[in-house]
Amino acid sequence: MDRATGRKVLYLNQRQFDMIVPSGHKLAVYLYGQGEPVLLLHGFPLDATIWRHQYQALVDGGFQVIAPDLRGFGQSSEIGNACTMRDFADDVHCVCDLLAPDERVSLVGLSMGGYIAFEFWSRYGNRLNKLVLTNTKPTADSAEAKQARLAMGEKALSDSTWYAVAPMLPRLLSQESLQQNTELTQWLSAMMARVPAATIAHAQKAMADRSDFSERLGRMNHESRINLPVLVITGQLDPISTPEECKQWSAKIPNCNLAVIDNAGHLPQLEQPQSFNQTLLEFLRAH
Ligand code: MLT
Repeated sequence: MDRATGRKVLYLNQRQFDMIVPSGHKLAVYLYGQGEPVLLLHGFPLDATIWRHQYQALVDGGFQVIAPDLRGFGQSSEIGNACTMRDFADDVHCVCDLLAPDERVSLVGLSMGGYIAFEFWSRYGNRLNKLVLTNTKPTADSAEAKQARLAMGEKALSDSTWYAVAPMLPRLLSQESLQQNTELTQWLSAMMARVPAATIAHAQKAMADRSDFSERLGRMNHESRINLPVLVITGQLDPISTPEECKQWSAKIPNCNLAVIDNAGHLPQLEQPQSFNQTLLEFLRAH
């Protein structure tokens, strides 16, 4: 039990520990370094190790890195019956309360992690320092996209996770990464295949039901009454969050920069880690 927060915490080692959130779920959290806290939220169907090239770079830059495996993913416990974007955002809020109780955090959300970052902003905006929205979008799904999500969930449950998620792989990595970076492709495939089928189904349902924040972007700074610098990042070759789409919606956000990472698809932090880290660190240091 952590005396300060009253929450149950089991410390495993210096770099990774488990915490139990009020819903009873165990979250595995990676913690590195000291300094201004930067909280990294992974995408779907992935886990916190997708930030493996950012940990050291951020620590060397003088930041503290906090990277949870989201509920249902990585080494965190399974989702159970259902979950929503709000549940994910509430979990992230618990992580902030425990690890950065007196500080605002800079939140970096990739794709699904970005959807959660929007939800977190709307509920807990006063806990934020800076926001980095990478390879993501503020819009909700079309009816067709929702159907595709539910179908993927059903396929995972009836067949297997890998059978359901394998078609995503060419949309996550650029052609060049797929053809030339065998280590990355194999490592990512294994991570995707490990996700429990129920997590695929529940997380897809949560994403299908997510709120649309596109009409609220222009109010980001005014309504929350915080001066919130925002960085939007995408990959030059990302078919899921294209540079053109990101340019359009990021232009609506006050105090927002857009960065497009060359020769990267949906996962620029893995495909072009040096460019990604430089972009991220420049933003975090400048504001
Ligand atoms: C992700 O990378 O998190 C997914 O592509 C998000 C999505 O399916 O919309």
